[in-house]
This record gives sequence, C-alpha cells and structure tokens, in this order.
Amino acid sequence: MELKRIQLFEFEDFNWFPDWLRTCMTNLIVLLQRMLGTSEVLAKLIANVLKNQGISQITDLGSGSGGVMPDVLQILKEDSELNEVRLVMTDLYPNASILKKFNENKDDSISYDPSSVDATNFSSAPEGLKTMVNSFHHMPPDKARKILASAQEHKQPLLIYELGDNKLPVLLWWFLLPVSLIILMIMVLFMTPFVKPLTWQQLVFTYLIPIIPVCYAWDGQASLPRIYSLKDMEILLSELNPQNYVWTKGYAKKNSKKQGIYVMGLPK
Ligand SMILES: C[S@@+](CC[C@H](N)C(=O)[O-])C[C@H]1O[C@@H](n2cnc3c(N)ncnc32)[C@H](O)[C@@H]1O
Repeated sequence: MELKRIQLFEFEDFNWFPDWLRTCMTNLIVLLQRMLGTSEVLAKLIANVLKNQGISQITDLGSGSGGVMPDVLQILKEDSELNEVRLVMTDLYPNASILKKFNENKDDSISYDPSSVDATNFSSAPEGLKTMVNSFHHMPPDKARKILASAQEHKQPLLIYELGDNKLPVLLWWFLLPVSLIILMIMVLFMTPFVKPLTWQQLVFTYLIPIIPVCYAWDGQASLPRIYSLKDMEILLSELNPQNYVWTKGYAKKNSKKQGIYVMGLPK
C-alpha cells in the first residue's frame, strides 16, 4: 500500500544551512509549542509509560537543540513518583554549542550525549524510554522502517510524537500553500518578541532581512505532508511481526482536544 507522506525538502535538513539560523527557527518552534502546551501533552504520555514500566530515564533521539524535552522533564519531576527521572538528549550530529549549554549546567538530571546516536540502530542508544519528538517526519521511509524495526528487535520502549497531522489531500495542500505561507510569515512577526533568548540575529533576520519568516513558513508547511499519518503508521507497522512487543497509536489530547499524533512501542 502506498504511503500518503511525500518527501519534500525542509531548509533545516540541509547541512549547509547555518546553525545560528536553524537555532532561530527552533526557538520559534519551541515558543509555538509552549503556547500550545505541547510539553503537558507529552509529559502525560511519558509519565504513564515511566510509571507502568518502572523506567527512570528518557533518551530523546534526534533531539536537535532539545525542543520542548527540557520543559517536559521539569513537568515530570513535579510528580512525586517521578522526581528522580533523568533526560539524555541525543542526535546523529550533536552540536558543540548545544552540548555545552546542557552539559555545563548544574542540573544532573539533564544531559546531552556527545557521541553520535543513530535512531535507526537501537543497539547503540543509551538506556531508557526512547522518544522522538517532531523528528520522525524527517526520516525517509527506509529509515522510518529501520527505526520501528530496531525498537521492536531490541525490545526497547519508543514514543514517537508529531505535533501536526497529515490529513489534507496533497492537491488541496498545494492549492492553499500561498495563503498558508503568508499566514505563517505574519505569525512570525508577532511571535518574535516573545522568543527566548532573543538575539540580534533573530531580530535582524526577521524584521530587516526576513529570511527567518520565509524559511520558518516553508519548513512549517512542508513538514505537514511529510508527517506519517496514522494510516501510514498502520502500513509501516503491518510490515513488522511483533513478538512480545506491542504497538499502539492514536491522537494525543489536551483537555480532550486532539493535539498531535503518537505511536508507542512497548515490550510486553
Ligand atoms: C527537527 S530536528 C529536531 C527536532 C527536535 N526533537 C525538536 O523537538 O526540536 C531533527 C533532528 O534529527 C536528527 N537526525 C536526522 N537523522 C537522524 C538519525 N538517523 N538518528 C538520529 N538523529 C537524526 C537531525 O540531526 C536533527 O537534529
């Protein structure tokens, strides 16, 4: 069966794309997720797994600059049953300045692994519940299949979360694209004053030379048809033969309203 997902490019995936520009865009995504309360949604999903499986470490894969996972950790630690939980962030290409930011702080419960951790190979990943937050759609189908198969083969718990969904027919997506891009670019102009940390690059390349709004709008829109819909996930999972391992999937919810989709793989 054919996947609905299509392979478009996103600026942030190019290795020539400057790190400082990627960071400016990531800061906007984190701000958007804070506005939407994504950390609470994720914390709820994760807390259940940690408690039910007796796990005390979260190993985030494809962490980039961390996204909302540090916020999620703080929420989890407010729960008396989870106040010992640790977060280890990892990436295939760990970035030196991000490593420094997380590894030189005084909080022992949060760290960034300096070694390259490939999400397609769970044998090399640190212990704990593996999470992939808004990073699974960056994986082309061959890699996506490897990730699911590797989690299952190594009997590792895995939570995949995507804030968006891929429900719009592709033709309609193309038709609406010009308007959607303009709306997102205008949104960036209003969101930017609330970005933390607010650097001179963020201001100059938003209001004077508007590279950030253009790249953010494209990546934001392009990521939607790149998301593996729940139906796509069903197709990918149907190719696996789980033994002593259970897959579940569905809509994540905030106050009974849908907020993103998730796929969870757990050893029995
Ligand atoms: C969109 S970014 C980071 C998303 C981040 N989780 C967040 O919420 O902001 C996706 C990341 O996946 C990483 N990546 C790409 N292929 C990977 C792989 N095979 N294994 C691990 N990380 C990978 C990239 O280096 C990039 O930092």
